[in-house]
Amino acid sequence: MSSVEQTLSIIKPDAVQRNLVDAIKSKFIENKLNIKKIKKIKISKEESAEFYKVHQTKPFYDGLCAYLSSGPIVVMILEGENAIQKNREIMGATDPQKAEIGTIRREHGISIDKNSVHGSDSPDNAKKEIDFFFKS
Ligand code: CMP
Repeated sequence: MSSVEQTLSIIKPDAVQRNLVDAIKSKFIENKLNIKKIKKIKISKEESAEFYKVHQTKPFYDGLCAYLSSGPIVVMILEGENAIQKNREIMGATDPQKAEIGTIRREHGISIDKNSVHGSDSPDNAKKEIDFFFKS
């Protein structure tokens, strides 16, 4: 079944720094994901730790939090049919080396840490992550 959904996308510091924001936005638009809201921000290490707290038991958690707060990021609400799953397909696998050709991470990702984009992985997390960045 298909339905119109919203999901959260983050363009991570590695991709913002390499001027890939327009190229990544084009990928979403070409795939019929509308950018409903967008802003460029820099978050603190504490905010980063809060955002990624589902990963707090993982060995890579500290590095992950330091990384997301290391430079400007672009956060977006994407909307479209099956937006959560579609965004995950457009991003490709977490590890750029394992991502399919044509996906954002395969084309632009540098490593599993510097993998250029984040996207919500479920409806529950999409809601939480959208609220995290856009609740006024
Ligand atoms: P992201 O989709 O933002 O969600 C959590 C991030 O942790 C992931 O992308 C990766 O950039 C990062 N990460 C670092 N090491 C690993 C790992 N071994 N497995 C999964 N994610 C990792």
